Parts: sequence; structure tokens; C-alpha cells
Amino acid sequence: MEEELLQLKAEAESAIQDCTSTDELEALRIKYLGRKGLFSSLMRGLGKVSSEDRPRLGKLANDVKTDVESVFSNKKDELSTTANAQDSSLDYTLPGRYIPFGNAHPVTKVMDEVIAIFEGMGFGVAEGPDIELDYYNFEMLNIPAHHPARDMHDTFYVSESILLRTHTSPMQARIMEKQDPPLRYIAPGKVYRCDSDITHTPMFHQVEGFLVDRSVSFADLKGVLTNFTDRIFRKGIPLRFRPSFFPFTEPSAEVDIACVICEGSGCRVCKQTGWIEILGAGMIDPEVMKMVGYDPDQYSGFAFGVGIERIAMLKHGIDDIRLFYANDLRFLSQF
Ligand code: PHE
Repeated sequence: MEEELLQLKAEAESAIQDCTSTDELEALRIKYLGRKGLFSSLMRGLGKVSSEDRPRLGKLANDVKTDVESVFSNKKDELSTTANAQDSSLDYTLPGRYIPFGNAHPVTKVMDEVIAIFEGMGFGVAEGPDIELDYYNFEMLNIPAHHPARDMHDTFYVSESILLRTHTSPMQARIMEKQDPPLRYIAPGKVYRCDSDITHTPMFHQVEGFLVDRSVSFADLKGVLTNFTDRIFRKGIPLRFRPSFFPFTEPSAEVDIACVICEGSGCRVCKQTGWIEILGAGMIDPEVMKMVGYDPDQYSGFAFGVGIERIAMLKHGIDDIRLFYANDLRFLSQF
């Protein structure tokens, strides 16, 4: 019986190897492996062998069957691949279909870059709500009801006490209210103002930054912002701090960089001044400190707010902010 099994195996395997079509292969499968095939009829003989030989022969028979089956299925794969290759309805010389690559929006890219720079200086990242309470957007930032500074903001109101935040500064109040100094955070996100022209869109992005500790000075603010402009524009780009006013910082400044287009000699973009404003900043007002429960005699801090679209426009020489939100891929895919 052993010999018969081995012979059947050899015969079946070589027949399968030599076969050239799927029909022929199917016929071989029926002949050898089918229910009434040669293998099955040999197996029926197992009943007649002595009981001490039966386990060994049973195992051998199983092995032979598995081997033949695997030769069979290999051959089947081989034949079907060649069959496909010969199918004349498929043209293998056609070029592949072009799948366009997507990429991040230029504002997202600059946002990520700004965040990475401040993270590198040890600032934590915190996000807050776009739909904000008047309380955090104004009151807690030393801008009470009817304060003339509210006019600067062109606010979208949701109700009398709820609005779309006009800046990321409410995050100063939200964080300081919950945590004690020392702390340093940036708060990136969307802000909204009812304004639209070539330098304003009703929604844009800011990154707020602030740091509070004992004896923080204006020099620390200058150091942090210089490091930032060195990295986001170019090392050594000149900075200028111009006195300004914000109700929540004292003293306050608007910060300019030397014009990235003309490098300071004067052009249309910088309106012949050689300077371009990039952010607002200052030392956190003692009134704001008191409102969040800090003692302004013990602590001091600075804060700043950067407009992201503005940075992106300067970095890439874009002269109309509305291009960012027109969803024109010819524009967006350049970055
Ligand atoms: N929130 C101010 C603005 O949007 C910018 C700013 C932030 C100024 C922090 C000072 C300190 O115009």
C-alpha cells in the first residue's frame, strides 16, 4: 500500500506539472483527488491493512494528499496568472492613472511652524472656544461695557453676552484664572471680526502668547519675540517696538519687522516706511492680574498676539488675504 501511495503521488504531481490549461487541470483534479478518484479508492484499502500498520499508513496517506493538493493549487495560480496576461481586453502598456497629492493649507503650515517655534521655547499649547463669553473676550481683559476700545473690534454678537471671539486674548484670562504662576502658554486659533477687504477676512487666525513669573521684564518679551522673528523670517531681521495701546497690557507696543520685500529701503508694500507691523504685545496690565487673583506686586508677565495670515502673506509675498479662503487649488497647491 505504501508503494502504491508513493507512486500515485509521483504520477499525479508530474501530470499536474505538465498540464497547460485550466480545463486539463480540472480533469486531473477529478481523476486524482475527486470523490471517486484514484486517491479515494486507494484510501478504501486502508480498512484492510493490519491494525499495527494502520496509523503509519494513515498518516502517509494524509501527507500524500496534502502534498498533491498544494501542487495542484500552485499550478492553478500559475495558470490563472498567465491566462490574465493573455487577456487581450487589458492593455498593460497604458500609463497609470494620475492620483494628485494633497497638501496642507498654507495657513495651517505657517500655524504649525509658529507653534513649533514657541514649543521649542518651552511654551505649552492651549486651545479655547471660538464662541466666547463677552466676559472673557472683554471684561476680564480690562475692557468694560461701553469702553471705547470695544469699537476697535467689529464684533459678531451671538447674544448680548455671547460673541465670536475677536482675538485669542481671552485665553490669557481663562488660563490665569485656573493656574498660578509661573506659567507660559500659547493659544492658537480662529478669531472673527466683521471686516472684509484685501487685508481683512471675517475669520482669521491668531496665536496668543503669554508668560507670567516673578520679575519678568520687557527685555524678556523682546528676547522671545526676537527669537521668534529670527526663526520664522530670517536670522537678524530688524525689529522695531512702537508704543501703542491695548487695555490689557501696559506698556503696550506694536511690533514691526523690516519690510521683507524691500529690506527697509521703502516700497509699495510697506508704504515707503521700510517697516511692516506683525503683532501686538505688552506687559500684562496689573488690572488684569488682579481680576484673575494674582498679586501684581509679586508677579509680572508679558503677552503678545500674532496674526497668522499676515505672517503667511509676508513669508510668501501674497498681497490679497482673501486668496487663502477662495478655495482655488491653483493658488493653494503652490505651497
Ligand atoms: N489681542 C490683540 C489684538 O488682537 C493683540 C495683543 C495680544 C496685544 C496680546 C497685546 C497683547 O489686536
